[in-house]
Amino acid sequence: MRKKIVAGNWKCNTTLQAGVELAKAVTEVVKASGDPEVQVVVCPPFVHITKVVETVDNNQVKVGAQNCAAEAKGAFTGEVSAEMVRSTGAEYVILGHSERREYYAEDSAVLNKKLALALANGLTPIYCCGEPLSIREAGTQNEYVKKQFEETIFHLSEEDFRKLVIAYEPIWAIGTGKTATSAQAQEMHAWLRGLIAGKFGNDVAESTSILYGGSCNAGNAKELFANPDVDGGLIGGASLDANSFLAIVNGYN
Ligand code: 13P
Repeated sequence: MRKKIVAGNWKCNTTLQAGVELAKAVTEVVKASGDPEVQVVVCPPFVHITKVVETVDNNQVKVGAQNCAAEAKGAFTGEVSAEMVRSTGAEYVILGHSERREYYAEDSAVLNKKLALALANGLTPIYCCGEPLSIREAGTQNEYVKKQFEETIFHLSEEDFRKLVIAYEPIWAIGTGKTATSAQAQEMHAWLRGLIAGKFGNDVAESTSILYGGSCNAGNAKELFANPDVDGGLIGGASLDANSFLAIVNGYN
């Protein structure tokens, strides 16, 4: 059975102190009443990671970064390498988030370098894909996301592809309060799983976790997670409150 995952992407929120408190609170609520079948991940800002790794109970909550550098090391002021992230004890890294693609001009070439370094350093990439509103309105979202796969993850070996977690995040649903309907999420997730099956075979497709992201919250998680191809969520705003996050973690119950 494929892994169910609920990951919190804190984005550029929380001071170090508030982040540690949040990590503590998430660990406590997950320990007390979280669904043991769901892997919980928190992805704080870089500067919080070391402390957050110390704060969480690794058996309950894993830690990820929100990004990593496209270079292994060297004179790249301000960058944080995949090796550095891994050396903190963090195990995941979000890559290809639409905010990185859009605001920081991360194209497929850059993303490919990041993916390779993340994998080489033993991190599990949470690879994000998803279409903007204009593409959804034109009805060409399937082809759009297929192209993202072809440009960035379909060249991977089967062994490396198996290490990925996929997150489908329609850009029009991120931070807008306008979530994809349950049917839209299922339709896209099933399409993506079919693409993976076509490329790597059924066994890989059936074992790849595909998360939904975009205004997923305590109120709609259950309905989204009820879909057979939705294996959890990548949560922005609602991951900043431990109880809201817990309700999403328990969205399968
Ligand atoms: P929101 O849950 O705030 O819409 O953000 C989703 C997201 O971008 C997670 O990576």
